[in-house]
Amino acid sequence: MRNRRDFLKLSLLGSALTSCFTSRTVLAAGQPKSQRPIVVSTWEHGMPANLAAWKVLTENGKSIDAVEAGVRVPEADPDVRTVGIGGYPDRDGNVTLDACIMDSNMNCGSVAYLQNIKHPISVARKVMDETPHVMLVGKGAQEFALQKGYQTENLLTEKSRLEWQEWLKNGQARQQINIENHDTIGMLALDTFGNLSGACTTSGAAYKLPGRVGDSPIIGAGLYVDNEIGAATATGMGELMMKTVGCHLVVELMRQGASPQQACEQAVQRIARKLDGYADYQVGFLALNKQGDYGAYCIQPGFNYAVKSVQTERLINSDNLMETLR
Ligand code: GLY
Repeated sequence: MRNRRDFLKLSLLGSALTSCFTSRTVLAAGQPKSQRPIVVSTWEHGMPANLAAWKVLTENGKSIDAVEAGVRVPEADPDVRTVGIGGYPDRDGNVTLDACIMDSNMNCGSVAYLQNIKHPISVARKVMDETPHVMLVGKGAQEFALQKGYQTENLLTEKSRLEWQEWLKNGQARQQINIENHDTIGMLALDTFGNLSGACTTSGAAYKLPGRVGDSPIIGAGLYVDNEIGAATATGMGELMMKTVGCHLVVELMRQGASPQQACEQAVQRIARKLDGYADYQVGFLALNKQGDYGAYCIQPGFNYAVKSVQTERLINSDNLMETLR
């Protein structure tokens, strides 16, 4: 819970950053300016995902194709427990997937509560490219995927099934922050043509209530792209991003002059100021602007993000609010 001391600190932090917006642009440490192409993504599983995206980008491919190819890597990896096959199930043992994708022309597609289809991001892409709609959910989304040639398969691996049964026995123990329960992959790319796109895909909160949908398929909450300005994606407890339309907020802060780093910090501070109980959860924002500058910020220690450009290929630990408040 917030206390008065935290509230005062947050107010001071907020005004310090606001005054920075008009006077300077702060880059992430050691980051060269104006890099393109570049791809950034959340968490360690972003490293191999970035390589798949990088292949598309360096063959003069479009950012939209890069982000789709990139996030398909963790979707297909049963050892990534928070995305695609092998993802943690809901309370009843069903793996339900959420994903969205957005391009440089404000086109977007999304699926939510999709079951038994390994690559929700590609179904979201088909919604974007081949329907007049933005979002399909549940049975309708699955039927659409089948019409487009996708096959159903069991996404609940033996490992996930055994862990879920153990969790049932333990009386639904409280989830732990950063313990592999919200590690959505969000990916943002800027291609050689200077166009931005993003993708976001997840199995959502482990052992969630059946029917629960998080931020990841919600345009503006888990992902947002404005090709004039920049793009943002999020990971962590989706309800906090949904209440603040977090990724849209990050992009709008960049529009007002914030660097990607400043925008992510301001969005986390907004959550902390507005939402009681925020300190019990992890939220991480990652942003990339039109110049190829990037930044990230989160509530709790532990969030990291992967960056791939001509100059670099690395995993970076994000700064976090909790350490700032100490
Ligand atoms: N950020 C993923 C979720 O809350 O479902």
